[in-house]
Amino acid sequence: MSVGYVTVQWNRHKRVYDSLVGGGVALYLALFIIAGKTLYTGAHAISDEILAIRALGTCAYLMLHVVLCTGPLARLDRRFLPLLYNRRHLGVATFLVALAHATIAIGFYHGFGNVNPFISLLTSNVNLGSLSAFPFQLLGLAALLILFLMAATSHDFWLKNLGAPAWKRLHMVVYLAYALLVLHVALGILQTQRSPWLAGLVGAGVVIVAGLHVVAGLRERGHDRRGAQRTARVNGPWVDVGCVDDVPDRRGMTATVGGGERIALFRYDGCISATTNVCAHQGGPLGEGRIIDGCVTCPWHGWQYRPGDGQSPPPFTERIATHRVRVVGRRIQVDPTPLAPGTAVTPARIEEDHHG
Ligand code: HEM
Ligand code: FES
Repeated sequence: MSVGYVTVQWNRHKRVYDSLVGGGVALYLALFIIAGKTLYTGAHAISDEILAIRALGTCAYLMLHVVLCTGPLARLDRRFLPLLYNRRHLGVATFLVALAHATIAIGFYHGFGNVNPFISLLTSNVNLGSLSAFPFQLLGLAALLILFLMAATSHDFWLKNLGAPAWKRLHMVVYLAYALLVLHVALGILQTQRSPWLAGLVGAGVVIVAGLHVVAGLRERGHDRRGAQRTARVNGPWVDVGCVDDVPDRRGMTATVGGGERIALFRYDGCISATTNVCAHQGGPLGEGRIIDGCVTCPWHGWQYRPGDGQSPPPFTERIATHRVRVVGRRIQVDPTPLAPGTAVTPARIEEDHHG
């Protein structure tokens, strides 16, 4: 997004991230297959195809857990933010690994008859009323189609054309894919392996994904409640949102005003500016960002905006809403009504603290 920050760091970061994902997948598959060959021998030996189906399936399932846990982890601890930068690449890689799993599974289990393998997948098992014989592969197919939709629309082209809120809503469907996959794997285990430790791992995965989302959600709500309690209407439209000393230099702070709306405050060059907390890209929390090259820089993917008018530096054209702000003594006061995106607001100058 920014000439200085994103094009250099983003590309290098992207390459490192992609190599780690590719290397990680290759290592996982190799270890899984070596372990399968070593542990199951003689009468218990597993065929190469089934070993490949299991290695690819568990790999994609594990990757989906990382995709889903990245959001709440980054909210709970900033050290996980680098994982978030290229989460979309991990999502696309997850789809590709899952596609390989499904392709081998369809070829192996449905490819040797005289019916088209795909037709066979859809029609060979119609035991919809039985849990122990349910066609669990169809749940995998539905999830795979959703993962395809997510991967196909992951490019910024779709984000721009659909608009960030609609794009985000669409990508929430990934949770439906996750639910379908939990059932696919659980019913698959019931029918093919009956392995208690695998069932335990599936359960642990659900607990971790749900637990992290609940903890991150509770923390956000607590933060909002404390923020709303700290703020107080002063006079006219002005709301007191804290002390200038609470905002670290060249960093942001998030303030919650009545109604739960969040405002990002930034301190730089002896001034305070206020903008919406919502990044125009994917709604990243701007108040958790920094001032880099004189611009508010989103912590998620590095999009930048000038703090004084909410406009991205040329050649970029994105705009975010700004807020009127003033400093009285050491207290920051903002007008909670957002101004039109890109509206210039004079930054509030911080008076010298003569008391040290
Ligand atoms: C058309 C789509 C799919 C088909 C036909 C399919 C088919 C299968 C089959 C036949 C099995 C049992 C393999 C065995 O143990 O013999 C299986 C297990 C599994 N599948 Fe799928 N699958 C599909 C989609 C997916 C997707 C999208 C994911 C994950 C992202 C996935 C993850 C898994 C996992 C984790 C297992 C358990 C592996 C194990 O038993 O060790 N599957 N699938
Ligand atoms: S840069 Fe992606 S959400 Fe802000």
